[in-house]
Amino acid sequence: MSSSHFFLGGDLPVNRLGFGAMRLCGQPGNFGPFPDWEAGKHLLRRAFELGINFIDTAHAYGPGWNELLIGEALVGTQQTIYVATKGGVEKTAHDRVFPDGRPEQLRLRCEESLHRLGVPRIDLYQLHRPDPAVPFLESVEALAQLRREGKIRHIGLSNVTLEQLQAALAVVPVASIQNRYNWNERKDDSMVEFCLQQNIAYLPWGPLAAQPFAPDAPLSHDLRLAELARTHQATPSQVALAWLLQRAPNIIVIPGTTSVAHLEENVAARKIALEEDSLREA
Ligand SMILES: NC(=O)c1ccc[n+]([C@@H]2O[C@H](COP(=O)([O-])OP(=O)(O)OC[C@H]3O[C@@H](n4cnc5c(N)ncnc54)[C@H](OP(=O)(O)O)[C@@H]3O)[C@@H](O)[C@H]2O)c1
Repeated sequence: MSSSHFFLGGDLPVNRLGFGAMRLCGQPGNFGPFPDWEAGKHLLRRAFELGINFIDTAHAYGPGWNELLIGEALVGTQQTIYVATKGGVEKTAHDRVFPDGRPEQLRLRCEESLHRLGVPRIDLYQLHRPDPAVPFLESVEALAQLRREGKIRHIGLSNVTLEQLQAALAVVPVASIQNRYNWNERKDDSMVEFCLQQNIAYLPWGPLAAQPFAPDAPLSHDLRLAELARTHQATPSQVALAWLLQRAPNIIVIPGTTSVAHLEENVAARKIALEEDSLREA
């Protein structure tokens, strides 16, 4: 069984079962404040109680509202909670989302995030998505500058290719990659391997999109997931998370939920040990 923690950026001991906060927003489109604000804070605090010490958010979630909720939940907590946020995507309506990777915009969003989260420095600041209208390395250099100024501790990249990661590594240390990856969607396998070799954390987003009822799920995989769930007296969601945790020791999962019961179920996935055979055949 691989370690329960990963040293993000080489120095932050992050529990590999984290929390993705995106769903704690208004709906549709993760736009506006989470309607039951107090319940949202309660859920985040329950996550801290359960040992989660890593929360993923973004400027675009809300926009701003999600970071504000997290900032409030952090007030008074005795635990060390590492917060990862992102800049580089703008959301002006529930159905209007676009990249903006201009250096001045990244700086503005980062400063707003510091304020909303109520922290002196952001543990992990991720470029949400490369902006086709801005040279990729200009956006990366903007994050490097924020890091030199002490506003952010580590730099992460999201929705990037292996080539983009390699280009970024030539100018700045990259602590994490956040791309879509789960039981059913494994196109990023070579990225996972590369990150493992480089000691870079890999944060698969959409980790539960692999449930049997996902419309694009290959049937054979669905049946296998259900079978493994039966064998382990677990739910398919738990097996999907356990599979990711065992897939590679640099993977940090960030499942999202609005339900305390689902949160508790997801955290319990840490205890499921899939046999080597299951991993190979999965
Ligand atoms: N970088 C990017 O571009 C990007 C894009 C998307 C997401 N993300 C990040 O990745 C995180 C996770 O992604 P995601 O929220 O899209 O996908 P996810 O974590 O795979 O799935 C979340 C969905 O699954 C449901 N769910 C959670 N636990 C469950 C359980 N035990 N049983 C049944 N259903 C369960 C949730 O509904 P309930 O609320 O009913 O539990 C929610 O609808 C986000 O919070 C965000 O931080 C990043």
